[in-house]
Amino acid sequence: MDVHVVEHPLAAARLTVMRDERSDSVVFRAALHELTTLLVYEATRDIDAERFEIRTPVAATTGVRLANPPLLVPVLRAGLGMADAAHRLLPEATMGFVGLARDEETHEPRAYMESLPEDLTGRRVVVLDPMVATGGSLLRCCEMIAERGCTDISVVCVLAAPEGIRKLEESGLPLTVTTASVDEGLNEAAYIVPGLGDAGDRQFGHY
Ligand code: URA
Repeated sequence: MDVHVVEHPLAAARLTVMRDERSDSVVFRAALHELTTLLVYEATRDIDAERFEIRTPVAATTGVRLANPPLLVPVLRAGLGMADAAHRLLPEATMGFVGLARDEETHEPRAYMESLPEDLTGRRVVVLDPMVATGGSLLRCCEMIAERGCTDISVVCVLAAPEGIRKLEESGLPLTVTTASVDEGLNEAAYIVPGLGDAGDRQFGHY
């Protein structure tokens, strides 16, 4: 599995704002939006493009357009803060939604929302989830996507823990991960350390 850590001062600066506990939700959401733009830009470097003929006001030339626009899938709820930035970069993309919660009895991630095209054969799917912690819910999301025939899943996250990366790697699913950092690990409450706290609460408030 390919893990691409984006090392760029602009990405590091946006991530620093998100990590800083003094950043309120307005500042946090703005930094997430900007960082998502940088991460999706990197994650789509190898996306299928085709050439076609156009005319400028001066002469004929060859242009480029996406050959097969991807499906974007924000994972609810924290991934919602990445959806608009990704969609602005990829206006041709369609968008699906997955919501996952921990089942109180089995403790396994259970989908409470699954709005995805039936057939994803031949499509690239870009999964948006700011935090890959244990990797449990993200793995379930990727399984749902692979079950629909997708063989090209790009996970875009802000932070990953080595434990989550390992779980995704061991799944053998056709994944790549693009992230701004692989942090030290998880604490006993399964928070990423040093991390940035709860990415949902930091964006939308704690209730
Ligand atoms: N989810 C979060 O929002 N933060 C973490 O640190 C781990 C999981």
